[in-house]
Amino acid sequence: MVALRMVILGRQGSGKGTQSARIVDHYGCVHVSTGDMLRAAREEGTELGRTAGEIMDRGDLVPDDVMIGIVGERLAKPDIVENGVLLDGFPRTTEQADALEDLLEEQDARLDVAVNLDVPLAEVRQRMLDRGREDDTPEAIERRLSLYEQQTEPLIDWFEGHGLLEVVDGVGTEDEVFARMQLVVDDRLAARY
Ligand code: AP5
Ligand code: MG
Repeated sequence: MVALRMVILGRQGSGKGTQSARIVDHYGCVHVSTGDMLRAAREEGTELGRTAGEIMDRGDLVPDDVMIGIVGERLAKPDIVENGVLLDGFPRTTEQADALEDLLEEQDARLDVAVNLDVPLAEVRQRMLDRGREDDTPEAIERRLSLYEQQTEPLIDWFEGHGLLEVVDGVGTEDEVFARMQLVVDDRLAARY
């Protein structure tokens, strides 16, 4: 059992959710998408869901302490401790990345790799407009993309500094992109011991 612990990064619409489904299928780890968790909370009408829903519709980020609390609770569950995790949408800031490192350390675990799915801006804009999710209004899309450059790009430096970063070309068919990801993940796993 590999118990892969991985982060998938990339602009909104770069295909994180799409590739995550394949990764968890192949490696047997648990998919944790903070966006999906927040959208589920909104559907359930919880207090978190209502607050987060308004923030998401604007295209802003939910506060770090709220996100760290939600993810911390999820990471401590036995399915993840045993089978590993693929984090999609978290961390989004360097504060969240520091917190993730601490959360994993509590389990005597560490990340294996952070894959940055690289897709040009024009392409992600088109993909999101085609997808048409509830928060995919042109205004929210632009806000999310500009926030990404400001707040999430420093994350790439963070992962690079921690020796965890791999950049994968996210343009091509879903199969082609998955094959590229598999190569870098398998290399990291092979180098683990
Ligand atoms: P989140 O759900 O994470 O949304 P996002 O970051 O905007 O990312 P997306 O889900 O839009 O993109 P994706 O990369 O998963 O692409 P997908 O696979 O869908 O977050 C939503 C909101 O929640 C945030 O705005 C924020 O408010 C809040 N939030 C979440 N986490 C947070 C955190 N940690 N801190 C603070 N706030 C947080 O693909 C996109 C489209 O492209 C699809 O239609 C797909 O079919 C298509 N596609 C995929 N691959 C290909 C391909 N190879 N070729 C052509 N088309 C493709
Ligand atoms: Mg997604």
